[in-house]
Amino acid sequence: MRLLFAAVPLLALGLTACGNPDTPAGRAADARHESFEQIGDAFKVVADQLKATAPDITKIQAAAATINGLAPKVETWFPAGSGPADGLKTDALQTVWTKPDQFKQATAKFVEEAAKFQALAQAGDIAVLGEEMKGLGGSCKGCHDNFREKD
Ligand code: HEC
Repeated sequence: MRLLFAAVPLLALGLTACGNPDTPAGRAADARHESFEQIGDAFKVVADQLKATAPDITKIQAAAATINGLAPKVETWFPAGSGPADGLKTDALQTVWTKPDQFKQATAKFVEEAAKFQALAQAGDIAVLGEEMKGLGGSCKGCHDNFREKD
């Protein structure tokens, strides 16, 4: 278990954790936050490129691959005991743990959209990516609306 929750990606990036206790659940919450930041950064790369006058398809493809690689892992980032009710610093709502079926649906939708976006991005047709970006963004929002603290 210790290894499972070790903040390897954080250390690899040289980032500091987000201030939760050095326990398996605390490290899971911190690692989760950093991983979502990676998803957010990649999503922004895509959005910026699609807005650009001359979008760089290689940047979009790399970002799509990052998102698609992380999407199937999301459901593993919320071990029992790593929520706000456990006294941890997190933007996750306790509904992640009290509405597991609904949360599972939100993660599944994200996995599906990320795979779709990845396939279209690798095919290189920028014209259709704007439309699919709405589907992908909708799957982020669909989860955030129910399972993440409002900003
Ligand atoms: C299945 C649910 C779910 C999906 C899908 C999802 N997120 Fe999140 N996201 C969360 C939760 C929960 C947090 C809060 C994590 C924490 O603080 O422990 C979060 C946090 C974040 C953060 C970190 C900053 C913050 O406000 O806490 C960013 C950035 C982010 N998400 C972007 C995205 C983007 C972009 C997508 C889609 C490409 C996405 N997320 C898809 C649930 C989701």
